[in-house]
Amino acid sequence: MAVTKNTGRLAFAIALEVLVAMFFFGPRLLAAGQAKSKPAQAPPKVNVSEYRNRAVPPNPANPPGPVQPIPYSHKLHLALGLQCNMCHQNPGNGALMTLPTAQTCMSCHKAIATDKPPIQKLAAYAKSGKPIPWVRVYVLLKGVNFSHKTHITAEVQCETCHGPVQDFEVQHEATSITAMSVCLKCHMMNNAPTTCKTCHSWPDYKY
Ligand code: HEC
Ligand code: HEC
Ligand code: HEC
Ligand code: HEC
Ligand code: HEC
Repeated sequence: MAVTKNTGRLAFAIALEVLVAMFFFGPRLLAAGQAKSKPAQAPPKVNVSEYRNRAVPPNPANPPGPVQPIPYSHKLHLALGLQCNMCHQNPGNGALMTLPTAQTCMSCHKAIATDKPPIQKLAAYAKSGKPIPWVRVYVLLKGVNFSHKTHITAEVQCETCHGPVQDFEVQHEATSITAMSVCLKCHMMNNAPTTCKTCHSWPDYKY
């Protein structure tokens, strides 16, 4: 019963989004179609990549981020033109993106802003070889299967799930990506699997 209700609600949410997407993109797509002299009556196609970019709604709570051991700013550093994979790699089975070591930061901060207290703290981590105790922002419950690799391979962009990180001084839970309904909605939109076992390892997983 609960499942049927949920599916109904999801179907409604998706139908609504299709309408909204058609409202925003319909006229433009139609215009593009006309430019290529297709019949004017042809139904507008949904632009899949635009649509996918709207799959994950912002987090209505929009909480402030945690206080980090070093006040790292994505806004400042991404404006320098750095790529995500300089600091977030996807090793092994590809579940995690991982957080950078002090060595990665020191490639610049050996020479940049060395007189600033946060950079002196950074240098101390690098010297001690201890990992920087970054505080995690997005955290799923244990036992939920999530792999970055699967989604990166499916060409889902980082920003689709994590929001416009290039604007963030402080990383915070800007989107609703940790909600099951959000995973399910996007899977339904993309014909990705939606059985419980896709994402949950019950009953094998011991909580
Ligand atoms: C399909 C949605 C989705 C996409 C696309 C995505 N992420 Fe994530 N990300 C998540 C979720 C969900 C978590 C929490 C995972 C957990 O708790 O196991 C997370 C966690 C993280 C973390 C912290 C934990 C870790 O994996 O080390 C980092 C860093 C991260 N993402 C960076 C990125 C970057 C960089 C990209 C693009 C290359 C990206 N993410 C793409 C959903 C996504
Ligand atoms: C490509 C070079 C580069 C890398 C890599 C880099 N930074 Fe920076 N960082 C800069 C520049 C440039 C500034 C601006 C310095 C200034 O305004 O004097 C800066 C500024 C900062 C500041 C502000 C310092 C202050 O108090 O004014 C902090 C904190 C910081 N970086 C931390 C980090 C951390 C942590 C990492 C690794 C995760 C990192 N940086 C990686 C180039 C880099
Ligand atoms: C110079 C290093 C650097 C670059 C480049 C960088 N990040 Fe990060 N990122 C960090 C550090 C350090 C943290 C941990 C501190 C924090 O959360 O701000 C982090 C944390 C995150 C988190 C939060 C992970 C979690 O759940 O705990 C996400 C999401 C993320 N980065 C996405 C991105 C994306 C997307 C890009 C590229 C557009 C990117 N980052 C580029 C250094 C970097
Ligand atoms: C596409 C992925 C996905 C699918 C499919 C999925 N779930 Fe979830 N589920 C999640 C996520 C993500 C959470 C929330 C984790 C969190 O809060 O960190 C969750 C949480 C839950 C929770 C509450 C937390 C817990 O683990 O006890 C229950 C109960 C649950 N799901 C049941 C189901 C059932 C029943 C199905 C099949 C009808 C299902 N889920 C299918 C991703 C999924
Ligand atoms: C923006 C869209 C999107 C979001 C959001 C999303 N997924 Fe996915 N997911 C996909 C796509 C696309 C695939 C790839 C399907 C394929 O390769 O056939 C996929 C594949 C998967 C797979 C592998 C399924 C298989 O058996 O091949 C798992 C597990 C999974 N996602 C879990 C999650 C969880 C858990 C969440 C929420 C935390 C989530 N996904 C959020 C789009 C999304």
